[in-house]
Amino acid sequence: MNKNIKLEVRNITKVFGKHPQKGISLLNEGLSKSEIFEKTKQTIGLDNVNFEVYDGEIFVIMGLSGSGKSTLLRCLNRLIEPTKGEILIDGQNITDMNPEELRNTRRNKLGMVFQNFALLPHRSVLDNVAYGLEIQGIPKEERYLKALEAIETVGLKGQENSRITQLSGGMKQRVGLARALANDPDILLMDEAFSALDPLIRSDMQDELLSLEDRVQKTIIFVSHDLDEALKIGDRIALMKDGEIVQIGTPEEILTEPADSYVSRFVAGVDRSKILTAESVMKRPDPIISINSGPRVAIQLMKDHGISSIYVVEGKNRRLKGIVMIGDVLEALKKGKSLESVMIPDTPRVAPDMPLKEVIPLIADSQYPLAVVNDSGKLLGIIVRASVLGALAISGEIEQDEVPEEKASEESASGDKIPEEKPPEEKTPEEKTPEEKPPEKTVSIGKNEGEDGQPPEGSGGSGNIINNGIDSGPVPAEAGANNGAPAKAPDRSDTMPGSEVKTC
Ligand SMILES: Nc1ncnc2c1ncn2[C@@H]1O[C@H](COP(=O)(O)OP(=O)(O)OP(=O)(O)O)[C@@H](O)[C@H]1O
Ligand SMILES: [Mg+2]
Repeated sequence: MNKNIKLEVRNITKVFGKHPQKGISLLNEGLSKSEIFEKTKQTIGLDNVNFEVYDGEIFVIMGLSGSGKSTLLRCLNRLIEPTKGEILIDGQNITDMNPEELRNTRRNKLGMVFQNFALLPHRSVLDNVAYGLEIQGIPKEERYLKALEAIETVGLKGQENSRITQLSGGMKQRVGLARALANDPDILLMDEAFSALDPLIRSDMQDELLSLEDRVQKTIIFVSHDLDEALKIGDRIALMKDGEIVQIGTPEEILTEPADSYVSRFVAGVDRSKILTAESVMKRPDPIISINSGPRVAIQLMKDHGISSIYVVEGKNRRLKGIVMIGDVLEALKKGKSLESVMIPDTPRVAPDMPLKEVIPLIADSQYPLAVVNDSGKLLGIIVRASVLGALAISGEIEQDEVPEEKASEESASGDKIPEEKPPEEKTPEEKTPEEKPPEKTVSIGKNEGEDGQPPEGSGGSGNIINNGIDSGPVPAEAGANNGAPAKAPDRSDTMPGSEVKTC
């Protein structure tokens, strides 16, 4: 996904009712939605909504029933006319367009998939998929060709001549998707497209959508009231409440940096280990050492940072070579050996997008911090046990207070501590080699971060200390605050008025 803006929503407000301008003036005066409704019977559907959608991303609009998701989605192709504000697609303001221009934009750039499929039951799959092209007057041969291609894309090859009534719910929604794709639109608008499906089929369809997105690179704006679905498929999520957007962010941002208590309550109870990735809990690998350095430098770095192991990299691109342990390095120094000779090359490593669920067993079994490396072997970060626990603690599964201390004693017990070096005969400070100089302050394992989870002054950066899983890691401020029951979206029994066949 690049960061080119595909669609931009600026100050969109929608007032339902006969006197929308009254609603706008009262909004400007600061009245609440319920006050406006009481006074004027005008319903505020959307209140000053702003966001951008990037080319090729899946942008999920989510929120509880009645929060304004469908209204917002339908404003994007002007199936609902916004009362105020602008919508730009590829920089063109569609709110200014005349009917002809709007029709062309809908045909060329936008496709829509509805929750209740909106198919023509007595037509074949092929004719349903080709329907939008048919009403555009595209000749039969050409529209069938395009429709067949779309049918294949959604995995329904061979079903062209089936009747809609013969299909399962999941297959019907594939037809809906194929119909939207037949036009080859840049942007797919999907309103609760999978909500009517059984859970397993729904999960399959989510996987299909992700794989389709990989293949066809559409920009997808997907409405959902299901948090798990939003977290699974969304590159970014806009969370709505009462016609306003309360937060826009990646799934990880929504989980780890909720904008307010509403968002916190909304995401309470989510299994973070499924959503968070290695990247989200890794720390900067600092310090690291070049493979060309000698044992002296390694020892100095380990002393300065109060760590007992250090990652070894090669070249500007920080290609991970392995790890060295302080005991081995001291030995190498004594015997005049190189750093590489005591390096452990096959340290455990994971990809940045590995879900925490898979990281947990690896870190549990590992003596060292896990190295996070990209495809070309570059060391991106390291994962220590405590930061995994810290990230999970926010869900309330692990008591926040337990994290640093328990881990500290556990790690100390494993003997992973900087060995006490016996000072040789006393020398003047000038005579001492770097590794003979005492650390600037006493380094005690597990205590090299301040009480607030930040490194103490002079520790060489924020959260960059390698200490073999002993540091407490950043425990988010909200940790432990979400012990309450998850905020569940209420069941929906609606079908959107006018969700029937509408071709865009
Ligand atoms: N045609 C309409 N006339 C009047 N009010 C409307 C109309 N359509 C929507 N609303 C109101 O606008 C608000 C937002 O409705 P919308 O359908 O966009 O919610 P939603 O988030 O899609 O909900 P759901 O999850 O139930 O589909 C609600 O208060 C709704 O009652
Ligand atoms: Mg809706």
